[in-house]
Amino acid sequence: MHEDISEVLFTEDEIAARVAEMGQRIAQDYAPKVEDGGIVMVSVLRGAALFMADLARKIELPLEMDYMALSSYGNATKSSGTVRILKDLSSDIAGRHVLIAEDILDSGLTLEHLMRALSTREPASIEVATLLRKKTKAQAAIDCRYVGFECPDEFIVGYGLDYAERYRNLPYIGVLKQEVYR
Ligand code: IMP
Ligand code: MG
Repeated sequence: MHEDISEVLFTEDEIAARVAEMGQRIAQDYAPKVEDGGIVMVSVLRGAALFMADLARKIELPLEMDYMALSSYGNATKSSGTVRILKDLSSDIAGRHVLIAEDILDSGLTLEHLMRALSTREPASIEVATLLRKKTKAQAAIDCRYVGFECPDEFIVGYGLDYAERYRNLPYIGVLKQEVYR
């Protein structure tokens, strides 16, 4: 796997440190709200599940974890613009504080769709924690309250991020060599 990576962007230690900081900030922000309904952390399968698992353990508050699956890229490296719910939440989020844990914000189409769909269920609030935000020109205007790292507009893998379902188990985040997907 490692030979397919042209550059390591964030090491395992850097990711762990940043995730811990994000968790502390989230805990501070949500502490006053714990009484009214509690937090439901939502992650979009499959990539963001790793991030949510680590982030949740750095948020010292009672919370629930739930999962959704959306169709997006298939095996391509660019967003298709069509997003479908393949697996819905198990919890009812009405009146709850929803915190979406995302792996990476690229075009923003996935999150835009998801937030619109979840808003109709009348949660008390919806915020987004994304580990990565790509510096792309055409990104939907999404109010992302918690951002781990800004990253370059390249195709990256590791720590949950895949190319054709591979590389999710790399402990670091790196740029995938172009010859792998060309
Ligand atoms: P968006 O709808 O374009 O914002 O794409 C969001 C989803 O696309 C993410 O949750 C990832 O699953 C996937 N994605 C976007 N960029 C990358 C990348 O560089 N590597 C791997 N997956 C990516
Ligand atoms: Mg993916």
